[in-house]
Formats: sequence, C-alpha cells, structure tokens
Amino acid sequence: MRGPDGPSAEQASEMPEEGVFPLVRDGYDAVYDVLERSPTFAQLWRTNAYHADFPVEFAHISFLTLGEATQLTRRLRLATGSLLVDAACGAGGPGLWMARESGATLIGIDPAEAGLVAARRLARQSGLGERARFQLGTFQHTGVADATADAVMTVEALQYAPDKRAALIELRRILRPGGRLGIVCFEVDPGLVLGVPALGTDPIADYRELLRQCEFTVEVYEEAAAAVLAEATFTIEVRPYPRRILAVARATPL
Ligand SMILES: C[S@@+](CC[C@H](N)C(=O)[O-])C[C@H]1O[C@@H](n2cnc3c(N)ncnc32)[C@H](O)[C@@H]1O
Repeated sequence: MRGPDGPSAEQASEMPEEGVFPLVRDGYDAVYDVLERSPTFAQLWRTNAYHADFPVEFAHISFLTLGEATQLTRRLRLATGSLLVDAACGAGGPGLWMARESGATLIGIDPAEAGLVAARRLARQSGLGERARFQLGTFQHTGVADATADAVMTVEALQYAPDKRAALIELRRILRPGGRLGIVCFEVDPGLVLGVPALGTDPIADYRELLRQCEFTVEVYEEAAAAVLAEATFTIEVRPYPRRILAVARATPL
C-alpha cells in the first residue's frame, strides 16, 4: 500500500526488496489495513493476546501488558522533553501511551505504511499530534540523526530483523551516550522454523552478549518461556517463538 505519505525515493531505496523483509512488511500492511475495518479482529486480538490488559484507546497488535509498559517507561527514565524513538512502532499504541505518561516527545518508525497512517491518526486523537511524528524506516535504516534519542524502544518486532547485530548497531547510533534501549521481543527456536521462510533468519541464543558487543551495558534481562502464543496459533501451526525477552540496556559512553 502506498498512500499520500508514501516513501521518498531515498527511503524506498533503503527498503530491501529481497529475503523475508518484503513478505513481513506487506503482511503487516495488510494487517493494519484490516484492523481498521474489523472491530471483531481487533477485539479478538485484544482479548486473546494480552487479556485486555492495556488501555483500549492505545490498543496494539503485540502482547505488551500495562505492567510491562509501565516498567519500560520507568526503566528508560522517560521524562518531559525526552526524545523517545519507537522502532517498529506499527500503529503506535505502546509508544504513544509511554509518551503521554512521561511527557516525552516521540518518533515512531516502521516499514508498514498502513501502520504509520493509523499511528498518525491515533496521535491526533489522543492529543499528541504536536509531539509525535511517524516515518518510514527499518531497524537498519531508521532515518534518525546520530546520538539524538534519550531512549529507544522496540516492542515485539526485533524477531523480524534480518540482521540483529546491524539493527542494534543502528539503534546504538541514534542513542545519546547514556541513553537507554528497551527491547521486548520473541526469539525463534531455529529447529522449529526450518522450511518457514518468513521467520528465524537470524536467531540469537543470548541477547546479553550481542548487546555488550554493540556497546550497551545490560541493566535488565528477563527471559520467559512463551509456551502459549496466540500469534502463532492465529497465523501458522508451528510455534516458532518459544522464548520472550524483555531487556533494558544503556548505551555505554564511548
Ligand atoms: C507485532 S508488530 C508490533 C508493532 C508495535 N511495536 C506494537 O507493539 O503494536 C511488528 C512490527 O514490526 C515491523 N517490522 C517488521 N520488519 C521490520 C524491520 N526489518 N524493521 C523495522 N520494523 C519491522 C512490522 O511492520 C510491524 O509493524
């Protein structure tokens, strides 16, 4: 889907058109499009994925609970005037909620244009239009200037990054020294995704090591078994994501 806020030639050239990326992006574009028109789908997701434990006006298509969002807001030290970047923001719910709670300014980036259109609408509806902006981008090319973000968050999307080291290097680049990165993501079991082309291209055994190598100091690392995954049951019969990770890491001053 290419709307009036479609990509510039430069942005479009940074969107890879090979590998799993176009499949994932176009799939999410279709999901955001359907969400608009299907209150039933939205309600099913809300009830099954996160048991309605998030403010309905900031509904999202991940599994994030209000408790987790509150923890992230606190651990990222968000405050009035901080700049928060939500990488893979989708339709914007979690980032907008955190910006509203903390007084932070928000930049959301995502490759799915239908998500960005919904995020801009939600920002206006929630009175955050003046301090939130949403732009096309990927984990590897956020389009955000060097060392400008006080905090970066990414909720249930890093599992899709084709190259996670490159993604973390890019998120480190946009953080000011001492700024913090909050990650909530699922992690694939490589054995379960053999022959499933859209998933599991870059499995990570332990994010802590990778975060350190990318010049972060890990402050929080929680890993939970994700045995019951509504997303997997909704979409494919294999359950490729048995682990769910919540991490907060500080950009180590160079
Ligand atoms: C499960 S949704 C989560 C969206 C949002 N964070 C939320 O909590 O509602 C995953 C998002 O990752 C985005 N995504 C997929 N591949 C990406 C990539 N390589 N770079 C950045 N975002 C990506 C999708 O477009 C989608 O919006």
